Amino acid sequence: MSAVIDISAAARASPVHSADGFDVMRIRADFPILKLEVGGKPLVYLDNAASSQMPQPVIDRMLRYRTTQHANINRAVHYLSEVATAEYESARQKIQRFINAREDREIIFTSGTTDGINLVMQGWGRKFIGAGDEIILTVLEHHSNIVPWQMLAAEKGATIRVAPINDTGELLVDDYEALFNERTRFVGIGHISNALGSINPVKEMIAFAHARDVPVLVDGAQAAPHLAIDVQDLDCDFYVFSGHKMCGPTGIGIVYGRAALLDEMQPFKGGGDMIRSVTFEKTTYNAIPHKFEAGTPPIAAAIGLGAAVDYLSTIGMPAIEAHEQALLRHATALVEGLADVRIIGTSKRKAAVLSFVVAGIHPHDVGTLLNQEGIAVRTGHHCAQPLLKRLGVTATSRASFAFYNTVAEVDALVAGIRGVQRVFA
Ligand SMILES: Cc1ncc(COP(=O)(O)O)c(C=O)c1O
Repeated sequence: MSAVIDISAAARASPVHSADGFDVMRIRADFPILKLEVGGKPLVYLDNAASSQMPQPVIDRMLRYRTTQHANINRAVHYLSEVATAEYESARQKIQRFINAREDREIIFTSGTTDGINLVMQGWGRKFIGAGDEIILTVLEHHSNIVPWQMLAAEKGATIRVAPINDTGELLVDDYEALFNERTRFVGIGHISNALGSINPVKEMIAFAHARDVPVLVDGAQAAPHLAIDVQDLDCDFYVFSGHKMCGPTGIGIVYGRAALLDEMQPFKGGGDMIRSVTFEKTTYNAIPHKFEAGTPPIAAAIGLGAAVDYLSTIGMPAIEAHEQALLRHATALVEGLADVRIIGTSKRKAAVLSFVVAGIHPHDVGTLLNQEGIAVRTGHHCAQPLLKRLGVTATSRASFAFYNTVAEVDALVAGIRGVQRVFA
């Protein structure tokens, strides 16, 4: 394949990509990794749904913690321990404000979305779900929001019921509502599908569940990086996400839980910090959020996530969403125009994810050849095998955009796909 396009030159030629002055080139300057070349080509990073990149202020904040503030938290009266504890708790408050939770104790630090869903399954599910009960999920879920509930269902003798989609990848809300009955105990729904980008009408779905006294967990792994989240407005019971998909580090995420529910849950992990008192006869547990944070947490990562939400808030989630939607519109129009390329997932409400298949070419070959042009996309089943099966494909190539991506990078992707087709022609 020949070089597809000079990203840096093209992007420099049109630095501002939206009418409201969103200066993507200024933003890109904050991300050192975006200056990389891969095999002599400028990196075009379009795998943001898997993990996004970290801006310098987040890297700097974690370095400052590591070089001047590190100690264990909650344990000592010395200077560094007090500083580290204050910074860790300040990160919790930043996240509380970012998603408009009522109280900071409603934010539990976890190692990520998967860990968060397991926390809710273990803490709420094992206590309140029993034999014959039903759990409603959707066919759009990531495996992280399927497997824990299946494990629980197998242990308790409960049943999983699955809300379907139409061929565009939109949830069929009437069918979801029809799944409810007197045995329904819990609902777990993804806010945005990682494989297709479909945005679910979660507020409406939560209201329907609540009218039947059924609590709802929202997997926000793909939404928190792209939309303004207001857990009070959504009225969800649990909201979970991962730091590494929203410009923060790996190894950190959160569960937001309504205080009343968190209070009545059993702890997920036992150990230090989550207790009030321990004897060999009986242990009493700490108050929330500490009841769910056994052991030494990833302190630097939590502080890094606090810096990441500061960074996103400074740009502004509405501006981020508008820029990403412009990229999605541009990419969709171009890819729709390519012969023998089919977009998988064309829901009317979509985040900036473009899954596609190229006729006669395996997605892994597409990904490998795009990589030779410096273009990073995801290929495979995207940890959503039931969804791909429903859509009749085993794998797709997926470009997922972030606010630091440019129109020139979309053009490079499209030129890259054409190049792949030429190789196989
Ligand atoms: C919708 C969704 N849920 C859950 C996860 C799991 O996130 P993590 O691997 O950070 O736990 C992902 C990751 O891709 C995701 O996209």
